[in-house]
Amino acid sequence: MPGLTAPSDYSQEPPRHPSLLINSKEPFNAEPHRSALISSYITPADFFYKRNHGPIPIVDDIERYSVSVTGLIENRKELYMKDIWKLPKYNVTATLQCAGNRRTAMSKTRKVKGVGWDISAIGNAIWGGAKLADVLALIGIPKSSRITPSGGKHVEFVSIDKCKEENGGPYKASIPLSQATNPEADVLLAYEMNGEPLNRDHGYPLRVIVPGVIGARSVKWLDSINILAEECQGFFMQRDYKMFPPSVNWDNINWSTRRPQMDFPVQSAICSLEDVNVVKPGKITIKGYAVSGGGRGIERVDLSIDGGKTWMEASKFQKAGFPYISDDSGSDKWAWVLFEVEADIPWIAEIVAKAVDTAANVQPEDVVVIWNLRGILNTSWHRVHVRQYDVAKEDTNSRSSYSFITMLSSTTGLMYPFIATGKCEYQSQKSCADVQQTIRDRSNILVLATLAFLPTWLPEASAGSLRFKYR
Ligand code: MTE
Repeated sequence: MPGLTAPSDYSQEPPRHPSLLINSKEPFNAEPHRSALISSYITPADFFYKRNHGPIPIVDDIERYSVSVTGLIENRKELYMKDIWKLPKYNVTATLQCAGNRRTAMSKTRKVKGVGWDISAIGNAIWGGAKLADVLALIGIPKSSRITPSGGKHVEFVSIDKCKEENGGPYKASIPLSQATNPEADVLLAYEMNGEPLNRDHGYPLRVIVPGVIGARSVKWLDSINILAEECQGFFMQRDYKMFPPSVNWDNINWSTRRPQMDFPVQSAICSLEDVNVVKPGKITIKGYAVSGGGRGIERVDLSIDGGKTWMEASKFQKAGFPYISDDSGSDKWAWVLFEVEADIPWIAEIVAKAVDTAANVQPEDVVVIWNLRGILNTSWHRVHVRQYDVAKEDTNSRSSYSFITMLSSTTGLMYPFIATGKCEYQSQKSCADVQQTIRDRSNILVLATLAFLPTWLPEASAGSLRFKYR
């Protein structure tokens, strides 16, 4: 397409923030550390997860860039950026969540296929652009249409990136025409993210944002819009991003038995704590995010410090200083809420979060009941484990064990879990996360060198860490 090109290799990828946790390099799939998600209601673009299926397209001439609108309409039309800029601009605050968010945890019960995401394949941004309902009206499809005179019932978005799953073809997806032409659904052709032009990773120059729906339908680097009688037949609609029951495996799967996933279910996760933590005695603050799909608000976030036996309600907010009220006109209906609760925790605690949306949908207790072979929509209760350390026992012995581990870690780069545990005993939870990040970065660099030394170092290091852990 004139103006926008799709490289076939990864030599021209954009720069990315070094703190991102990379789940796959080519294509680039990365998420921020979980603590970054709760530092602000709006997620900065740098710390917004990046989910790609091929090399990132390049704009070589924005003036020549256009989106073709074709299919079951009277006349084909080319829309240039100047045509889209002329339409009324809307800013919609919406949470984008990859259907694979929290997949790694699902994989622990039974293996699933897909990129291993922790809990941060999610972000909340202010998307600026034209409403798709206005764009379609411009080409002659009235608002609130369910079908066009020539039988069009679906709106397909086609990109330009080269995806392996599409045999080198572009990423594509569709939504029903009724949703696309409904101004209340707030579907956007977005050219801005958080007040800045989209960056390359997030779809520059133009992407679709379908609020309340899994991220897979928000097609980036838009090339064409097709009005179709049937939904899009692309790989990512028909052979991916479908939710199967736990009984379906790779031998008995029949993709045509399930519809493409659209809305996401109610979700929440604790972001102020790691999966396993050692903390100072006293009160701790538990913070995280909660969100539901389809424009449903968050009614409640329940927190437990005894593995789900008893519960307390967390406070929720979107704008700092204003308590969040679900379904209030002042609340952002497509956006997450951040939650917070302060608790005195016992010596050893399993902390659990579960959210309830305005339709009273509740997160399922156990991941086993929602296990599916592609590992999508893990919305089970989010659990983290906390142990307090005994201040009285903080003696020179433990410090020397700690130094021993530090020395090994800086040499091998592989001792990240041990050193992170040790460091947590001396620092606050937040700095603990920073330490883990630093060490993880260092681990990446040194991992190759380490492999050569592994046979000699590993037994020694393990012995050291055990001594440290059970001092
Ligand atoms: N659009 C194109 N063209 N190519 C892609 O790989 N990934 C989809 C969607 N749109 C994708 C795409 C998926 S699976 C998700 S979750 C979101 O983009 C991620 O958007 P982000 O990278 O801006 O966070």
